[in-house]
Amino acid sequence: MSVATESKTGPRFELRPYKALDNDVLASRIQAVREVMGKRLLILGHHYQQDEVIALADLRGDSYQLSRMAADSRECRAIAFCGVHFMAETADIVANRPERLAERNGERVTVVLPDMAAGCSMADMAAIDEVENCWSELGEVIDTADVTPVTYINSAASLKAFCGRHGGIVCTSSNAAAVLEWSFRRTRRVLFFPDQHLGRNTALAMGIPADQMPVWDPHADALGGNAEGALQASRVLLWKGHCSVHQMFRPEHVDQFRARYPGIKVLVHPECPREVVDKADIYGSTGKIIREVQAAPPGTKWAIGTELHLVNRLKHEHPEQEIHFLSPVVCMCATMYRIDLAHLCWSLENLAAGTPVNVIEVDPETVRWALVALERMLEVK
Ligand code: 13P
Ligand code: SF4
Repeated sequence: MSVATESKTGPRFELRPYKALDNDVLASRIQAVREVMGKRLLILGHHYQQDEVIALADLRGDSYQLSRMAADSRECRAIAFCGVHFMAETADIVANRPERLAERNGERVTVVLPDMAAGCSMADMAAIDEVENCWSELGEVIDTADVTPVTYINSAASLKAFCGRHGGIVCTSSNAAAVLEWSFRRTRRVLFFPDQHLGRNTALAMGIPADQMPVWDPHADALGGNAEGALQASRVLLWKGHCSVHQMFRPEHVDQFRARYPGIKVLVHPECPREVVDKADIYGSTGKIIREVQAAPPGTKWAIGTELHLVNRLKHEHPEQEIHFLSPVVCMCATMYRIDLAHLCWSLENLAAGTPVNVIEVDPETVRWALVALERMLEVK
């Protein structure tokens, strides 16, 4: 039995004893909470989670699918989000939007993130004051009424709210092209943050030349390190942010695999640098990567450039195909990896006991505007 301490609402279990338990014990205790809570509990798992966690998730998906699942959930009253912080924030915003709250007579869905340290280093590369500062500096050289701010879903809720307030929108790796098309129907320019690679790869595929995509460095002295003329000639302003996992994949890795395995198919995530995406056969979200492998005939050879846990799971689930990890070094999302069975069990047992821990609840003013940008995204086809 776990150690309990008194909180204002009742006994709260401490995390420490859970860390000493075996995964088998943790898994059966998690299963017991699932049985007790039934449909009131929804465990969502991102594709990068470790296998033990995925095995206990009710639903798994890419960022877009997970936000849809949270938005569509009607029966659940609690979501344990096995992903990273921005995903749990998004789930809180869409699961508790006004029409859903009205359907439930004001009852909130409690969203918990089993480990609060599960953040995203890319999301941390754009802070709201830096984005506000960028917007006001841009206003000195271009008409910002003719700029749509687009935030990748890998960003804090405050950045989504910024987009909502300024006619902008959220995108994920699975709908970035449709979102850019939506934006260009409204304005001549886009400010895309925080991932320069997703922005660049998507815009290049739409035919926008690289020289019309200056990069805004929030740490530069003025104008994000750009000349006035470059900003005036721009179509897409890219934020200087990246994913530390996907930047590890290099074009020479693609060359090495092609030389060694003739006919191999290279499949990568669009957070990889342009030089890698240019050399790949296919690129897309984690959901698309999975669908491509599922649809391929036995004997297909793949070199896959995305997070290690997903690639290893694909190897395991598709022994009929030959799957290689594109990089010679380990590229894993260390923050996703923080969600383990100990944290999941601890957060679920507290949830079931009525003493939820690690609750993610975005403040109402941020929710109001972030929802505007998220709903625009959910409506884009
Ligand atoms: P997906 O939207 O493809 O699931 O990617 C999320 C992510 O964080 C990739 O690094
Ligand atoms: Fe963030 Fe990269 Fe991890 Fe995705 S893989 S959650 S972008 S750090």
